[in-house]
Amino acid sequence: MVRLLLKTLFLEILLLLLHHSSAVDDDDLSPFPKKFLFGTASSSYQYEGGYNINGKGQSNWDNFTHGDTKIIVDGSNGDIAVDHYHRYQEDIDLLEALKVNSYRLSISWTRVLPKGRFGEINWPGIDFYNKLFDALLLKGIQPFVTLSHYDSPQELEDRYGGWLSPQSQEDFAFYADLCFKTFGDRVKYWVTFNEPNHVAPFGYRSGIYPPSRCSGSLAMVNCKEGDSEKEPFVAAHNIILSHASAVDIYRTKYQVEQRGKIGIVLSHEWYEPMSNATADKLATERARSFTFNWFLDPIIFGKYPKEMEEVLGSILPKFSTCEKKKLKKGLDFIGINYYTSFYVQDCIYTKCDSGFGISRTEGSYMISGEKNGVSIGESTPYSWFNIYPQGIEKTVTYVKDRYNNTPMFITENGYGQQDDPNFTLEDQVNDFKRIQYMENHIEALSIAIRKGADVRGYFAWSLLDNFEWIYGYTVRYGFYHVDYATLKRTARLSATWYKQFIANYTETKFTGIDNMLQTT
Ligand SMILES: *[C@@H]1O[C@H](CO)[C@@H](O)[C@H](O)[C@H]1NC(C)=O
Ligand SMILES: *[C@@H]1O[C@H](CO)[C@@H](O)[C@H](O)[C@H]1NC(C)=O
Ligand SMILES: *[C@@H]1O[C@H](CO)[C@@H](O)[C@H](O)[C@H]1NC(C)=O
Ligand SMILES: *[C@@H]1O[C@H](CO)[C@@H](O)[C@H](O)[C@H]1NC(C)=O
Repeated sequence: MVRLLLKTLFLEILLLLLHHSSAVDDDDLSPFPKKFLFGTASSSYQYEGGYNINGKGQSNWDNFTHGDTKIIVDGSNGDIAVDHYHRYQEDIDLLEALKVNSYRLSISWTRVLPKGRFGEINWPGIDFYNKLFDALLLKGIQPFVTLSHYDSPQELEDRYGGWLSPQSQEDFAFYADLCFKTFGDRVKYWVTFNEPNHVAPFGYRSGIYPPSRCSGSLAMVNCKEGDSEKEPFVAAHNIILSHASAVDIYRTKYQVEQRGKIGIVLSHEWYEPMSNATADKLATERARSFTFNWFLDPIIFGKYPKEMEEVLGSILPKFSTCEKKKLKKGLDFIGINYYTSFYVQDCIYTKCDSGFGISRTEGSYMISGEKNGVSIGESTPYSWFNIYPQGIEKTVTYVKDRYNNTPMFITENGYGQQDDPNFTLEDQVNDFKRIQYMENHIEALSIAIRKGADVRGYFAWSLLDNFEWIYGYTVRYGFYHVDYATLKRTARLSATWYKQFIANYTETKFTGIDNMLQTT
């Protein structure tokens, strides 16, 4: 008992010290660069494994990957993933070796609430995250925690159709409240949702993510049911209001005492107009509105972007007076996942054949990685992934200008290497391309920061190779290579590079990046 007390006391003193030296304590005006967060990002379904043990419930992704879907390219799933559930201590040692000061992760909703608010709390699940957060903080690493990174309880899908029902707001609020109450003494950065701007169109328009609902020409897979022209907007509406509910609870019950920050993470591709024609420039604005501002405008301005209202009319759900009031609670920061950029071409005045974006309810635009046969940046085996570092600078500057320089974090950025079974381990670990990618992107980011963008952190995707959704295990993003037969982690060159980069940066404060700028 005494030992336990001592241990608790020790932890509390440590937490006090940590919190004292963290950005959140000094509120918004802390000079940005000194307290910059450098970290790596992950998510529960992609990392943890242990999909059905110690009381965990079935998530929508468990259900989806176990079904007869042929959507995951290698037919794999996240049952084991990289077994972080059992190896978290080893993985935290890897984080410590990189000398990162923060780690982005998500809580598995069904590990703590197997059936949402319709069942019991799963205490072994709570215990897992308690141990994880304590172990991170003992090494001086701030947890940066997402509540919903794609996975949610299958129970909610079965009971009332998940995000299509306003009831989902009550479930999310219940879950968020439990997490703030249980973990908020140690977690100072909360993200409500990761990339809802993928969840809604992929789950309810193309059907490539659960619950795999789609219809008509926008369907990319065979869906049993759905309405691709309508449901994405209903799901998004309930997610936006779920965010607002969680923020309301945090602000009302916890934030004053816990002194943390809460935000949302969106995926943001950069869009360049294909030409200087007015139609293409307008199409580019529509593309931003229909993919990104779709979520942030309601949360920050209380209404959907005007481009969406004009095109969608009554398809777009309305916010009631009461809901608008709740939306006013806004957010403390915007998380941006940036990987790539596209050219955008109008499809209202010019006929477009087929592809993502061209239908009226998508915004009537066409995206392409190239113009006149020339790629926007270095190409990769993935048509969606062309390397354009300037895009991160432009994105951050755009978000700064549109949303009044709300604090931002780069919550994901990284380089995916298509796996090749013929690679030797040596090929696998000599990841010069990844180093170059990150160097160039951080450099471009620093230009935006120098011009006044309030960016407070950078999280590389990812610490480890992991389950990459529909790509399964066929693309690798890690600073550490994972051998999926043995789950052994092996450092790549990029791990050494990131560690050195952070060390340089920390020693010289911001001059490391100043020097980088002078050489450009
Ligand atoms: C997924 O959920 C549906 C609806 O509850 C159920 O019918 C189906 O059996 C589940 N699939 C798997 C593989 O668990
Ligand atoms: C658009 O105009 C600008 C300024 O005149 C020019 O620099 C740019 O290359 C033009 N872009 C295209 C796609 O033609
Ligand atoms: C791997 O090597 C074999 C034999 O050289 C070759 O036939 C195969 O195409 C290679 N696989 C890939 C993905 O390059
Ligand atoms: C760190 O600083 C050293 C000395 O200035 C430099 O040679 C090295 O390239 C830097 N490393 C990184 C990863 O920025």
